[in-house]
Amino acid sequence: MEDSPYGRGDTAWFVKDRFGMFIHWGLYTQAARHEWVKNWERIPDETYQKYFETFHPDLYDPKDWARLAKAAGMKYFVITTKHHEGFCLWDSAYTDYKATNTSIGRDLLREMVDAFRAEGIKVGFYYSIIDWHHPEFPVDKYHPQRDDQAFREATKDRDMKVYAEYMRNQVRELLTNFGKIDILWFDFSYPGEDGKGKEDWESEKLIKMIRELQPDIMVNNRLDLVGSGDFVTPEQFQPKEGMKNADGTPAVWEACQTLSGSWGYHRDEMTWKSVNQILWMLIDGVSKGGNMLMNVGPTGRGEIDYRAKARLEGIGAWMHYNSRSIYNCGAAPEGMVAPPDCRYTYNAETNRLYLHILAWPFQAIHLLGMADKIKYAQFLHDASEVRFREPGKQEHSNLSEAGHAEDLTLLLPVVQPEVEIPVVELFLG
Ligand code: GLC
Repeated sequence: MEDSPYGRGDTAWFVKDRFGMFIHWGLYTQAARHEWVKNWERIPDETYQKYFETFHPDLYDPKDWARLAKAAGMKYFVITTKHHEGFCLWDSAYTDYKATNTSIGRDLLREMVDAFRAEGIKVGFYYSIIDWHHPEFPVDKYHPQRDDQAFREATKDRDMKVYAEYMRNQVRELLTNFGKIDILWFDFSYPGEDGKGKEDWESEKLIKMIRELQPDIMVNNRLDLVGSGDFVTPEQFQPKEGMKNADGTPAVWEACQTLSGSWGYHRDEMTWKSVNQILWMLIDGVSKGGNMLMNVGPTGRGEIDYRAKARLEGIGAWMHYNSRSIYNCGAAPEGMVAPPDCRYTYNAETNRLYLHILAWPFQAIHLLGMADKIKYAQFLHDASEVRFREPGKQEHSNLSEAGHAEDLTLLLPVVQPEVEIPVVELFLG
């Protein structure tokens, strides 16, 4: 980790836990057509107000959410305390635009934090530095009313300093009233013409205050302030290799991903990923030394919908047997290259290597250069031995192919075990 003039949070637990739940929940869940609906459809406050007036998540039971996250194998969660629309899930003293002022009348955030903590899940707060509701947030290229020239003219004296102070006040609340917070996830900067960056947010002041309030907290890299981020946040793509810091050292990184093509609840969005694909993403990320933050967008009734639930349960079924290849794991040691259709992850403490078999082959997998490196091999899901052929040995010219002396050949059953992605645990030594 590079030094930073802004201090560093504690990332030791994070790179071990590897898997978290992102939750996008706000008024946009009722529009049910993406959390950017206010921007996309250029909806003014007066029209958007109907979602505030009708917001009533009567089925909300965060204990349920926490149980689902835990069963899926997620070790931390990050909740949108406030998204770009400006609505706050907690009882903030600095705004009326909050859950406690809707008909549900509850501090939704506090209940969530309590429920997840009770399940032993670490707590992260997403906080949007963008705010499309605040009366002093200057209209810019992403503001819903950006094209309304009369509105731009009428609001041209908005004072960013007042808004920057509002943010500090709210972040102070979040870091003072909810106990130890493990992650602060800001979103997002767009410096340049008609945008906003570190000068606007007063990022330096903000990060200094955060480090004073919670020195161990991890802060992401979206404040437009070089050196202020404890981790990098590739979004909606799978990095092709492990990510690096500016000085070339490996970065702490977390890919944030969606189950379907939206963060907020989107009723009609149909590009739901399969359980197999999501597991592939998790495994692929860990094999490159990264984390995955997988998003759910609960409904306006306050429930995680059936499509999301089915996927979380599928992930959980796999994690039940195979989480040992995820937690405390990262990239394989230099020079160990996984065979085709496979990924390696590695636990340095136990010196075990995990072979994830993404496409089931016929009987043999050749582990290149591993002949003298493996003491024992077993399937992770049932601890059954996986035998291997003596290096370089050919039993019968028609029955087996001679391997190279330096390679090791695993002998697999013809039929894939009943596991979405089978994992072979390799004891190195
Ligand atoms: C984007 C979007 C936002 C979402 C975030 C999650 O920056 O603005 O809607 O919350 O990605 O990473």
